[in-house]
Amino acid sequence: MIDVAAVKRDFPILSQRVRANRELIYLDSAATSQKPESVINAVSRFYQNTNAAIHRGAHALAEAATVEFESAREKIAHFIGAQSHEICFTKNATESINAVTYMFLNETIKAQRGIQVENPHFALQAGDEIVLTQMEHHANLVPWQELALKTGAELRFIPLNTEGRLDLSDLESIINNKTRVVSFVHQSNFLGTINPVNSIINRAKQVGALTLLDACQSVPHLTMNVKSIDVDFAVFSGHKMLGPLGVGVLYLKDPNSAPVFLTGGSMIEKVTLEKSTYAQAPQRFEAGTQAAAEVIGLAAAVDYLEQIGMEVIHRHELALTKLALEGLMQIPQVNIIGPTDLQERGGIISFTLADLHPHDVGQVLDEQGIAVRVGHHCAWPICTYFNVPATTRASFYLYNDEHDVEMLVSGVTRTLDYFGVS
Ligand code: ALA
Repeated sequence: MIDVAAVKRDFPILSQRVRANRELIYLDSAATSQKPESVINAVSRFYQNTNAAIHRGAHALAEAATVEFESAREKIAHFIGAQSHEICFTKNATESINAVTYMFLNETIKAQRGIQVENPHFALQAGDEIVLTQMEHHANLVPWQELALKTGAELRFIPLNTEGRLDLSDLESIINNKTRVVSFVHQSNFLGTINPVNSIINRAKQVGALTLLDACQSVPHLTMNVKSIDVDFAVFSGHKMLGPLGVGVLYLKDPNSAPVFLTGGSMIEKVTLEKSTYAQAPQRFEAGTQAAAEVIGLAAAVDYLEQIGMEVIHRHELALTKLALEGLMQIPQVNIIGPTDLQERGGIISFTLADLHPHDVGQVLDEQGIAVRVGHHCAWPICTYFNVPATTRASFYLYNDEHDVEMLVSGVTRTLDYFGVS
């Protein structure tokens, strides 16, 4: 069990009053999580005591910053069951996915020019297929659309069903001998659905396709072990897991055989005016001065999460989700978009309310101090599938409690009253 009152005290922002002196009910952690004092302090301590460019100096501060950065890397890698050299830092999950698509694009261009590529797996040809799902958010859709456009590869999609789950009945034909990569979300940021990772990865392996797991809504909320799911790439963002904004992670199962994507200082082995060779992982993926304070802050976030326990956090969120689903489903004007049971789902609930526009719903909830996200949640094709312009989304984390859920449910009822909807 989580002592939520004690947890809330660790998050200075949560004691704030908002709007007309209302208590803040923060139900938007799927967009970004709040930060505990330990994370804020870790970032500020770095700037006060250690600030220096890592891997680039022989002076005392540079040495200390490098040691702190690399020990943060070790902690973050361990958190997902990886080894240090198998993760590299980016700005966020979106940048991590783009990085992988650029690996494909760069190798495809080289192969087209007759240049020997580092890893032929990444060189695409017209007619190759890229498999995604119909529930991807834009970060795991648009970069692949661009890659398809530039290489002549084709996109295929594992479809949704009306329950808000993936329909795997045609998996064997969708993932086939033409499939070169399968990239899919672990937990949907829109629907809360947790996808059958093993079935999809096993099928991809049967046809020799690479796999990428978008874990930005799962690493913050579940126990994740990239080795046991045997995925080739996994991505997540620090800011959704109590860490600072501006740091993301890319896990690579076989990092030294993956092509580089950002080039420049610190990622090289040897440079002449004509050509360069590249360092081993993880440095080969980290060109330029790194966001050391953010990485160190993310390690402090991992400490915080581990001290509570990921299983405990997941169970806590499921209990809140159960309560919220029960409360919301008692309101006849609420239509839940996504699974209405607790099987294979996490603490994200999207809904529409009568025919009110979600932006209006969000505004009235906000006036009551309740922060939710409204819109298409950067996953427009899901709205299209469910034939809704947008939804209201509540998302829970370890610092939410039953009171927050009650406020959401009563806030929705008050919103109906406000608009005179019966
Ligand atoms: N980060 C976006 C969200 O709020 C996609 O779910």
